[in-house]
Amino acid sequence: MAYSIFSLGESKLANNVARELNCEIAKSEYKVFPSKEILVKPIDSVRGQSIFILCGDPFPVNEKIMALCIFIDALKRASAEDINVIMPYFPYARQDRKSKPREPISASLVAKLLVTAGATRIVTTDLHQPQIQGFFTCLEDDLSALPLISDYLLKDLDCKNLTVVSPDHGGVTRARRVAKALSTPMVIIDKRRTEEYKPEVINIIGDVKNRDCVLVDDMIDTGGSCITAAKALKTQGCKKLYIAVTHPVFSDPFLENITKDNVFDKIYVTDSIPLDEKFTKSKLNIVVISLADLIAKAIKSIYDKKPMSEIYYN
Ligand code: R5P
Repeated sequence: MAYSIFSLGESKLANNVARELNCEIAKSEYKVFPSKEILVKPIDSVRGQSIFILCGDPFPVNEKIMALCIFIDALKRASAEDINVIMPYFPYARQDRKSKPREPISASLVAKLLVTAGATRIVTTDLHQPQIQGFFTCLEDDLSALPLISDYLLKDLDCKNLTVVSPDHGGVTRARRVAKALSTPMVIIDKRRTEEYKPEVINIIGDVKNRDCVLVDDMIDTGGSCITAAKALKTQGCKKLYIAVTHPVFSDPFLENITKDNVFDKIYVTDSIPLDEKFTKSKLNIVVISLADLIAKAIKSIYDKKPMSEIYYN
């Protein structure tokens, strides 16, 4: 049985994954009509094939979710054998529970849409919370970029004076994993959100005086959480300050906020989301760690029906 790799729209990450696998991205049509309705379909036959759809650029999110469902539907109706969706960044992941009355659980809804469309497996990277895996009624693999990030930090930073910081309670397991890999202490920020969803630091649990710190989180979106955390760490006497996240969402007004306060000596991200030129050409010191090799290995394992455990833990 053959396999084909498609990219949902243009994506450098998808091209890099294809290069790692020594194959071409299969041809597809992606069309947005004047009415804003979308058509996505494979150009050539996919009958009996294992399909891998790489979603290397998740923006604009609502259009891309709909386009993905439509593409999965097209592939299913074209008799693909199985449809594996590689979504390094899973949108709506933060809407994963009802934390207030009348709130939706949109992460669960998106998972259901993909499965209903016909996805047989979803591969994500560092989901906001691992429990989101349970929203999928198809196979789900949540890979982690943390080993790649940890390896990079080990080579790039002087870890002797480094402390890993979890920016909130929800990120403790993630931060602990990096602290363990770097053999550093860890501190936790006791954060809450105000009624207007603004992050507020209540307390820093642990000592950061005269220490270099690296905040570890799943994403930076507008930068509100990390800037609030950074200011609190600086007030407590932290020296150099870094941040390492898997997903650089970087929504407005991230650039404005981060440039104004200029609190981070370096920002480590992955290519789960492509960076706009305004970020790469800015004064920010951003390091991009590629997921291409990890994703290529995952595709190989899935297609060859080999265990994924090595990919999870290496
Ligand atoms: C929160 O639980 C997340 O892990 C992120 O820290 C947060 O959502 C990032 O959003 P922003 O950068 O807009 O504060």
